[in-house]
Amino acid sequence: MPKSPSLFDFHLLLLFTIFSLAAADAIAAARPITQQFKEAPQFYNSEICPKIVGEDDESDNGTSIFLCSDQSVHVAMTLDSAYIRGSMAAVLSILQHSSCPQNIVFHFVASATANASFLHATISSSFPYLSFQVYSFDDSSVSRLISASIRSALDCPLNYARSYLADLLPSCVRRIVYLDSDLVLVDDIAKLAATQLGDNSVLAAPEHCNANFTSYFTLTFWSSPTLSLTFANRKPCYFNTGVMVIDLDRWRRGDYTKKIEEWMEIQKRTRIYELGSLPPFLLVFAGNIVAVDHRWNQHGLGGDNFKGLCRDLHPGPVSLLHWSGKGKPWVRLDANRPCPLDALWAPYDLLQTPFALDS
Ligand SMILES: *[C@@H]1O[C@H](CO)[C@@H](O)[C@H](O)[C@H]1NC(C)=O
Ligand SMILES: *[C@@H]1O[C@H](CO)[C@@H](O)[C@H](O)[C@H]1NC(C)=O
Ligand SMILES: *[C@@H]1O[C@H](CO)[C@@H](O)[C@H](O)[C@H]1NC(C)=O
Repeated sequence: MPKSPSLFDFHLLLLFTIFSLAAADAIAAARPITQQFKEAPQFYNSEICPKIVGEDDESDNGTSIFLCSDQSVHVAMTLDSAYIRGSMAAVLSILQHSSCPQNIVFHFVASATANASFLHATISSSFPYLSFQVYSFDDSSVSRLISASIRSALDCPLNYARSYLADLLPSCVRRIVYLDSDLVLVDDIAKLAATQLGDNSVLAAPEHCNANFTSYFTLTFWSSPTLSLTFANRKPCYFNTGVMVIDLDRWRRGDYTKKIEEWMEIQKRTRIYELGSLPPFLLVFAGNIVAVDHRWNQHGLGGDNFKGLCRDLHPGPVSLLHWSGKGKPWVRLDANRPCPLDALWAPYDLLQTPFALDS
């Protein structure tokens, strides 16, 4: 007995709907994973580069000595499938402008829930000669400390990984250059890494003393004498946490991770700021950092947080371009609505052929 055509149609329609919904979901989930990246060229040290002891030691697996050398420039970045295109561009830009690219070691921090072997394989296939390690960051530990900020993208636990580098990286790594994934360098990273931290400073970054520091904290914070007292005897200035040189030895000795967490605990109880991972850094370090030349973080190129307007460079020389803010150059380029300065990011894009799957 044949089914009534209408019921059959209905079933077919339902089946088709379920199928296409599932397919759409699968495509959306798989999208970053199906991105194909080109292989970057190999970059070689110039004559003047310090030789890393143990570099050619055949008895060792090569990784450990290299991973610990004080002669290497150590760079830390986060790695996730959403920003991997930005991370790859950043890595390429660093290698391309370095005099000693073979002496750079990359320390990538990925979420414990991410597929680390996939991220590792993606980096290795584009950079077969890169010295790097992928560390797994247990975001659940920090999740409980995060309170909702005004920009939800800032609430991602991986954003807080920069506060945990001292614990995540091996203790033999004593100094790190932390970099966000939405930037490119157009100068030698060794110059930034060589920043003198003086006798006591833990951290160096470009400072912005013209920014209205008051606005980073709430009235509740400023009207509480016990809380605002933290800035007594300091001249705090805003700094962007997307580019920092950190003395990890001093960080570990001073237990700064705990100091940052303590402010996050306070924020959970009383709202003392609106943004995400930045304010705790300001609370702990502002006024006590070594100021780096502004050329090392020309930030804000992502544009205005609310209207998505394009931003121009600040006056002065440029060593690092940073698309902080809401807009990302790869998104705007793909949408065919780039900001003028996005053209400076495009040469570092390793994505094979955007939308190749759609054609
Ligand atoms: C290299 O050797 C060290 C110990 O000498 C070990 O901890 C590390 O996991 C090894 N790395 C690889 C990639 O095998
Ligand atoms: C993780 O990535 C590897 C390498 O790309 C792949 O073979 C594996 O199936 C992935 N695992 C999961 C759980 O997705
Ligand atoms: C700085 O910001 C605070 C709070 O947002 C505001 O009350 C104050 O007027 C601002 N100061 C200047 C000089 O703009």
